Amino acid sequence: MRILAIETSCDETAMALVNATGGLSSPKFKIEENVVSSQIAIHRPFGGVVPNLAKREHIKNLPIVLSEIFGDTRENIIAKDFKKVDMISVTVGPGLEPALWTGIEFAKELHKEAKKKNKKLLLRGVNHMEGHLYSFLLQQKTVTQKSKPKIKNMFPSVALVVSGGHTILLLLESLTKWKKLGETRDDAVGEAFDKVARMLDLPYPGGPEVEKLAKDGNSAAIDFPKPMIHAKNYDFSFSGLKTAVLYYLKKNKNLGNNGFADIAASFQKSAIDVLVKKTIKAAGEFGAKSVILCGGVAGNQALREVLGDECKKEKLEFFVPPFEYNTDNASMIAAAAYINFLRKKTYSVKARAGLGM
Ligand code: KG4
Ligand code: ZN
Repeated sequence: MRILAIETSCDETAMALVNATGGLSSPKFKIEENVVSSQIAIHRPFGGVVPNLAKREHIKNLPIVLSEIFGDTRENIIAKDFKKVDMISVTVGPGLEPALWTGIEFAKELHKEAKKKNKKLLLRGVNHMEGHLYSFLLQQKTVTQKSKPKIKNMFPSVALVVSGGHTILLLLESLTKWKKLGETRDDAVGEAFDKVARMLDLPYPGGPEVEKLAKDGNSAAIDFPKPMIHAKNYDFSFSGLKTAVLYYLKKNKNLGNNGFADIAASFQKSAIDVLVKKTIKAAGEFGAKSVILCGGVAGNQALREVLGDECKKEKLEFFVPPFEYNTDNASMIAAAAYINFLRKKTYSVKARAGLGM
């Protein structure tokens, strides 16, 4: 099945053309095209994403990205290329509502026009967080073992979903059946990275900047709190950690570059320790065979390494998407659309900012 996927939930106008084959026990994805048009430069002066600016940029970028994917004009794409597309899939939530609507309206319009030429063309809504969850399927090998493991042998599995808006721990019984073990009670971990970045005068988006700065710092320099690390449940909290960084900065003036690097490294260590400890604990308690790490924060090399090492020690297979598919992209939306098609799960094609997992 050939899927055109569209993703506009935040500040990336993303589109992908993916050929999906296989059943639920061995889905395969061949990414033919994957375009991400980033708006970072537009939002950077504001220190974060401005929803109405994102909307304006998506409206401008969507037709350009569509032409880039097929290398032709819209007219020709609809007349010719869509004959060989089976489904248009589009993110319906969670995300910024004005941004979501741009992708949805674009998808609906395309579907309406292209359906005149291709009567079987499907239109499907996709949950953005399911996209992140299934992004590991875009590379079906683990970090901890060399051979390609069989997906059907990886369950039960614990998934740590870490993005700018979410921090969720899931227990997966299968690729399509899971329950939420816990989630953040306040800030998402990516949000904490972004806020700490702002305190350290680093540009938006802050996560990768904090990670870069942390490489020059000493992670044992400052003893920041590790909220809820010993709690009996699997919830998280990152607001206190962020505030601890703020207080530290207020108390210690004139720190200089080394001082800032120590803060970045120590903050990052606290955040990673909590995430890894709770993930590994859940894997042990529920007899998991594997761990999945996904979402934008999965791009953090230190987190990948620490969690990967712990998985190795515990003999857990460790699945993590390739670097380019951690942060928002449309290939992961195509993957989720295909899995939901196989399991006959549908989402209505309208924007829902607070859509859950
Ligand atoms: O998944 P994503 O692209 O968008 C959302 O769905 O939220 O995640 C973006 C988040 C941002 O908070 C960003 O700062 C964070 O992921 N992030 C990182 C890194 N790369 C992206 N956080 C820490 N280290 C990174 N290398
Ligand atoms: Zn995302």
